[in-house]
Amino acid sequence: MLKAEFAPSIISADVFQMPRIIHAFEHYGIRRLHMDVMDGQFVPNYALGTGMIDMMRKNTSIPLDIHLMVERPDLQLDRFSIQPGESVSVHVEATPHILRTLQMIREHGALAFAAINPGTPICMLESLTEFLDGVLCMTVNPGFTGQQLLPGVMEKIRAVRAFLDAHGLENAHVEVDGHVTFANAAQMARAGADWLVGGTGSIFYQDGTIEENVEKSLAALEGV
Ligand code: DX5
Ligand code: ZN
Repeated sequence: MLKAEFAPSIISADVFQMPRIIHAFEHYGIRRLHMDVMDGQFVPNYALGTGMIDMMRKNTSIPLDIHLMVERPDLQLDRFSIQPGESVSVHVEATPHILRTLQMIREHGALAFAAINPGTPICMLESLTEFLDGVLCMTVNPGFTGQQLLPGVMEKIRAVRAFLDAHGLENAHVEVDGHVTFANAAQMARAGADWLVGGTGSIFYQDGTIEENVEKSLAALEGV
C-alpha cells in the first residue's frame, strides 16, 4: 500500500505569503505541489497560468503536480514546459485523444495521470492502463475551492484503487482533489488515496497558520 501524503493546492495559497508557505513545505518535507490550471472553458473559472508555474519552478525544488482543467490539453501541453519528475493530470472528459495526451506527458519524462470528474465512470479508464502513473479522482465538481464533498466519493476512491490493482498497477497513485479535510483525510487514505490535495479544508485552512495547518494535516495521516 502506497503511503498517503499531502499535495498542497497552490490555488488556495495567499500569494503575499508564498515565501513563508514554501519554506514551511520544504521544512515539513512536502514532496509535491498541486497546481490547478483552469481555462474558463473546461471549468467555469480561471486559475494559475504558465507564469505562476514557471515562478514556482524557480523558487522551489519541490516537484509540481500540474492539474490541467482545460479543454483539449493535447493542444496546450507544450505551453507548460513540463519537466521530468513532475506529474500532470489531464481530464478524460477534455479531449478525444486522452491516450495520446498521456503518451505526450510521459515523453516529457513526467508522470501521466488521468483525471476523472465526479460524474465520470471508472470504465473510462479501461483502455488507458498502459499509460497510467496515477488517477486523479475529483471529489468535488472541478473549478472552485471550498466546496463540500459529493456523495459516494469514498466508494469511488475504493473502486479506483481496486481498478488499478486489478490491472497490475499497484504502484500507480490515487490522487483525490476537493475538500480534503483534517477530519476526512485518514478515511480517504484508508479508502485507497495516497496523494491528497490539501486546500481550504486542511493545508490552507482559514483559522490556522501555514505551519499549524501542515502539522495538523500530517498528524491526520499518522499511522494510516
Ligand atoms: C477544484 C480544485 C480544488 C482545490 C482544493 O477544481 O482543484 O479541489 O484544488 O480546494 P478545496 O480543498 O478547498 O476543495
Ligand atoms: Zn486540482
